[in-house]
Amino acid sequence: MKNSFADKTVFGLIKAITYPRSSLSWVRRGHLAKDKVFVSQTYWFAGTLPRVPLTTILPGVQEAEVLLPRAFDRKTGTSISVEEACHLGAIAKCTKAARVLEIGTYDGNTALVLAANLAPEGQVITVDLPPSFDMEKQDSLMYPDVELNLTPRDQLGRQFQEHRLSAGIRQVYGDSAKLDWGTLGDPFDLIFIDGCHSEAYVRADSQNALDHLAPRGVILWHDYGAFVEVSNVVDRLARESCRLKIFALEGTRLAIGLAAPAAS
Ligand SMILES: C[S@@+](CC[C@H](N)C(=O)[O-])C[C@H]1O[C@@H](n2cnc3c(N)ncnc32)[C@H](O)[C@@H]1O
Repeated sequence: MKNSFADKTVFGLIKAITYPRSSLSWVRRGHLAKDKVFVSQTYWFAGTLPRVPLTTILPGVQEAEVLLPRAFDRKTGTSISVEEACHLGAIAKCTKAARVLEIGTYDGNTALVLAANLAPEGQVITVDLPPSFDMEKQDSLMYPDVELNLTPRDQLGRQFQEHRLSAGIRQVYGDSAKLDWGTLGDPFDLIFIDGCHSEAYVRADSQNALDHLAPRGVILWHDYGAFVEVSNVVDRLARESCRLKIFALEGTRLAIGLAAPAAS
């Protein structure tokens, strides 16, 4: 990201004033704690959903044998954790997902995990802003004024490009809120939302996900509990959606929405 130190400081101060609860929590859990492993696991300071173990949500998941390719090629803070990767792989496996969509590719580790645990002949479609995108082009976005979590463009999909699982992964470039999701090969059995974390984008990605989800599909959001804006959108959806049952997944920053087929 190209934001200067001064920009980040001003942004941090604005956030501290706007979300005092999150800031206090960050200071207490993140800044003052000495055990960095503990810190990396205390994700939660936002969100109101009950935190439920995956074993309660998907009975039988204990039997799952999950594949985690390149398990340790990850960047703390940008990649999902190994524990979260294990949850995603297990959910793909237990729900027998074949059509999977990921919003926010970064270096492609999660796309690989999903591809490794798909049903036979399955495919992962993963979306990110194009390799040529830079911060100066932010005006071209659907929501140009948001804080953009753009990752280094030379990392985009790096992990799957030469990997044996690459045949099961299709990289698509575009702004997630501008893309026509109907052209991506819907309906999807599993949709993982991990693109721009601003409220406008999470809301747009969630609405698109609902519109392009298979009747018994699953939506997962990353950074629930850790990002106030992600948490707000998911909490509202949990209150208002008749179609999804939404839970926070214990031990992770994932929220899961399970679709019930519409009554005929
Ligand atoms: C947190 S990273 C994704 C991490 C990845 N899912 C993983 O598990 O390793 C967020 C990604 O979303 C991308 N992104 C940000 N805004 C976007 C937008 N409007 N449309 C598509 N992708 C976007 C960023 O470039 C970045 O690579």
